[in-house]
Amino acid sequence: DKDARINGIKDQIRVVPNFPKPGIMFQDITTLLLKPKEFKDTIDMFVERYKGKNISVVAGIEARGFIFGPPIALAIGAKFVPLRKPKKLPGKVISEEYILEYGTDCLEMHVGAVEPEERALVVDDLIATGGTLCAAINLLERVGAEVVECACVIELPDLKGRERLNGKPLYVLVESH
Ligand code: PRP
Repeated sequence: DKDARINGIKDQIRVVPNFPKPGIMFQDITTLLLKPKEFKDTIDMFVERYKGKNISVVAGIEARGFIFGPPIALAIGAKFVPLRKPKKLPGKVISEEYILEYGTDCLEMHVGAVEPEERALVVDDLIATGGTLCAAINLLERVGAEVVECACVIELPDLKGRERLNGKPLYVLVESH
């Protein structure tokens, strides 16, 4: 059932203390990717939630949204649009800056990849402060798309990132404290 699958997924995420900096408990999904059963369960749980919801775009956030987003997109019959770090995309782009602990970063999307009125799902591996997902939502809304939901494998609920998503719903499989 659902809970058994979620527990199996949670068990395959490796938590690495003090990476990449002291005090950070890094949530490493590469160990989940080594387990075909639990990796497939992860994708299946998202597909079960989003198939038949008329979603035409899955937008994946660099880098680990590029691992989980495409298999979801293929299974629900949606296009996949990469949201990339600056200066990676060759075409005309729109950009959204967001705030990090030290300084800022930026996500970019190709102009024309998403049409007005399209229904979009945003996918990433993890939500921490929510700044990255907020930038992704803003990119999609700037081109007139409707963000139906954001989906992550892991949430760090103590950081309250969910509150920064301008009311957009967030679905996660695993919470980590
Ligand atoms: C991580 C994670 C999310 C983001 C979440 O990416 O994969 O994309 O941080 O953080 P936030 O909710 O506080 O914005 P990271 O910054 O490590 O970039 P990378 O995937 O390119 O390594």
